[in-house]
Amino acid sequence: MSEIDIESASLEQLRDILNNKTSNITLAHRFRALFNLKSIGKEDEDRTKARKAISYIADAFADDSELLKHEVAYVLGQTKDLFAAPYLRDVLIDTNQQIMVRHEAAEALGALGDKESLELLQDYFVNDPALEIRQTCELAIERIKWENSENFKTEKLEKSLYESIDPAPPLVTDENNSKIEKLQHILNDQQKPLFERYRAMFRLRDIGTDEACLALATGFADPSALFKHEVAYVFGQLCNPVTVPSLIKVLKDESEAGMVRHEAAEALGSIATDECLPVLRSFLNDEEQVVRDSAIVALDMYEYENSNELEYATVK
Ligand SMILES: [Fe+2]
Ligand SMILES: [Fe+2]
Repeated sequence: MSEIDIESASLEQLRDILNNKTSNITLAHRFRALFNLKSIGKEDEDRTKARKAISYIADAFADDSELLKHEVAYVLGQTKDLFAAPYLRDVLIDTNQQIMVRHEAAEALGALGDKESLELLQDYFVNDPALEIRQTCELAIERIKWENSENFKTEKLEKSLYESIDPAPPLVTDENNSKIEKLQHILNDQQKPLFERYRAMFRLRDIGTDEACLALATGFADPSALFKHEVAYVFGQLCNPVTVPSLIKVLKDESEAGMVRHEAAEALGSIATDECLPVLRSFLNDEEQVVRDSAIVALDMYEYENSNELEYATVK
């Protein structure tokens, strides 16, 4: 299939592109098919068709690409349809899947607010050997509990500029939570519950000023790869050039986890100032596959968007 067909492709053609049926489809093109299937999967009018799209998306869990599969898990978590939950549970419990993919699956169960997964999440929160998985499960459990709590009904939250369902809601909007310094303090306080720290993170994102971005960048000093990758993700949403030096530093640091460096690469691809693109190009041959693939996909999407004037969703 030629690469220009994607906008008019049928559901089955999109499935075949996503799943690389002809074995010669570029990763970036497969991502495009995924994003098209994602928008079909979110459509309210025809849920039968939407669920077909969801099941085609989930087929991609059989692939090798860590980058693609983690995006697939993220996308399924954004569908607001519990139909996606069993696919995600299967991935969380499958220890042959990469940690980044399993993390994204657990997070997606939280985003779906899947109460039926609470027991499973609790099990992996306590017992999984990987800290990233335990922390993700902790957040997902808290998110599901929060969504079913009294607080959910009464809390005053500012409407976010971003469409994403995040691992935690922002902190409530009151006078205190408008003070950057205080939010930065909560963000970096390792004694506080992770869920609260994430809430401070998303509150800072929603404030979105240069000062708020610089406060967020202090989160890169945290020991947790999970925490740092989320800061990088938020920077990809914010697209504020003030974050670029911190993202470049993270991307260049080979002692950082692949998950963190990948997210930094994607954020630089979204910000895409003149400074970002040459840096990304220099990582096209990085030793870490997920970093290499992130640079390839980010650059390809940047070029595609600029040639077609199409806006793609922020990648996770
Ligand atoms: Fe993630
Ligand atoms: Fe990611």
